[in-house]
Amino acid sequence: MGVAKKRKSGSPIIRAGLRSGESVRVLISHARVQQRLKQLAREIRRDFPKDSLHLIGVLKGCVFFLADLARELGGEVSFDFMAVSSYGKGTNSTGEVKLIKDLDVSIEGKTIIVVEDILDTGLTLKYLLRLFEEKRPKHLRVVVLLDKIERRIADVRADYIGFTIPNEFVVGYGLDYDERYRNLGDVCVLHFDSRSKGKPE
Ligand code: IMP
Ligand code: MG
Repeated sequence: MGVAKKRKSGSPIIRAGLRSGESVRVLISHARVQQRLKQLAREIRRDFPKDSLHLIGVLKGCVFFLADLARELGGEVSFDFMAVSSYGKGTNSTGEVKLIKDLDVSIEGKTIIVVEDILDTGLTLKYLLRLFEEKRPKHLRVVVLLDKIERRIADVRADYIGFTIPNEFVVGYGLDYDERYRNLGDVCVLHFDSRSKGKPE
């Protein structure tokens, strides 16, 4: 039978999956994320005490955030997912947004909370909000775990923000670099060794 280990920053567990030339530094611990989620859930419920909340997660970065937030929100909650691609492989936004998976059910007349992992240039969110507004929800709100405010290009903002972070590339708690590191429990800054072949342009 396995013995549960207490996970600490910089432990072998957090380094697991690191490729040579890449390193991570914890920016926001899993515990801080969980603490903040409780507050966000309270804020959202305070604004919509009686509504059935329909969460729309933007895949794939939202998965842990949406799952944990949904469990903190009391009352009636349902969810659906969208998939868009805005990044491709590297760490720089192309500015293009392509719809990969549409919603399964109508959002007309519903109280919608869009759940995004990170607000960077804002181009993805701008595109999604335009799309959702046309479908006539009763309320349309946005919750983001992270806001990289310095990078904003599009004129959008989130209604509920977990953490404002500096302009650094982050991974973990759902966020990826080239589909890797989503499974880190903490939100971490990803660093590239200057000799690393994987270093993005
Ligand atoms: P935006 O359209 O530039 O706001 O980018 C939104 C999407 O880009 C997010 O949903 C993420 O998938 C991705 N992204 C932006 N910044 C980061 C980052 O620091 N790490 C990982 N993914 C990021
Ligand atoms: Mg991504």
